[in-house]
Parts: sequence; structure tokens; C-alpha cells
Amino acid sequence: MNFVREPKGIQEFLNDCELSGQNVVWRQKKISECVNVYRNNEAVKAFGDQLAYKVANQNFNRENYVKGNLQWGITYINPFTVDGECAMTAGHYHGDTDCDEYYYGLKGEGFLLFWDGKDEFYAEKIFPGSLHYINGHYAHRIINSGDALLAVAACSLPASKQDHKAIEVRPFPYRCFKRDGVVVWEKETYASDPR
Ligand SMILES: [Fe+2]
Repeated sequence: MNFVREPKGIQEFLNDCELSGQNVVWRQKKISECVNVYRNNEAVKAFGDQLAYKVANQNFNRENYVKGNLQWGITYINPFTVDGECAMTAGHYHGDTDCDEYYYGLKGEGFLLFWDGKDEFYAEKIFPGSLHYINGHYAHRIINSGDALLAVAACSLPASKQDHKAIEVRPFPYRCFKRDGVVVWEKETYASDPR
């Protein structure tokens, strides 16, 4: 019997924080594909083939979305700004708000934005070693405010059913800009839903 075995995956925490192992799938997104994410939606088109972020996931029951199936994933966000706005993920709610999540900062610096969809919103600092409990009721988005790659690990339940559409329709109340090297938070302006 093969009692002592190699682990099913390796999560580097030095260098590029690469994830490798069984059932690891990679995907990536160009900046020009990040439509309805940044305040200046036109500016994203000018970036051509430049990569916004890549994601690696290890999942042993990827297709079935069964309750309890855990996934280990890393999001690697490149450092850039779109008309001054810091690089970020689209962000999402969980369709099943019973599904919590953990994020863990591996490399770089940035923020994790939280919003309950109503009056409560805040940002937690991300840095190597920062641990972030995400209650399933809060929308969440990762922002790279640094000058280098930001790598964030997530332990999540795919059965949470990420809901990106709700954030696209009604964006987070605050946006993160970098002006002359300084991070500046700006209130979102809503045409039909003033806050
Ligand atoms: Fe999530």
C-alpha cells in the first residue's frame, strides 16, 4: 500500500506564488476584456492584449457544483491603472449567501473591498500573510494598489454561485485610484441611484 504520498498540490509562497498539482486549471483575462468594471469603460479598450489577471484553481469536482466541494484558487493581478483607477477583479456576490469564503494575501499589496449591497462597505488591507474572512452576504473585489504583482489565495465553495451581474449593474460605492503615487478613494457616482 502506498501509505506515504506526495501532496495533491504545491502552493509556492515565494517567487511567483505558483500553484501546481492535480486538477489545476488556469485561465486569464485581458484588460480590454474587463468591460463594465472600471469607471472609464472606454479606456480599457486601448490596452490591446495586455493581461489584467490570471487565475489558477485546484478542484476535484469541478463540473458538478455540489454543496461542500471546496476549491483552492489563486488570483494574480498585474499592476496597472485604467485612467488612474487601480487594477482589480470584477468582484461578485455569492448567489448562495450561506457560502462563506477565505482569502489570504501571498504577494504584493492591495485591498479587499467589501459591500453588503446597502450601507456597509469597507476595505481591508491585503499584504503577504493577511487573512480575510468573507461573510457570504458581502460582495467582494480584489484591488492591486501596488507597483508589483498581487497574488491572493482563496478557499471557496463553487456552489456559492458567483454573481458578477449584480455588481456590474450596481457597482461598489467606492473606487480606488492612484494619483501621483498616492492611493485615493473616490465615491462612485450613480446616474439613477444617487447615494
Ligand atoms: Fe467569492
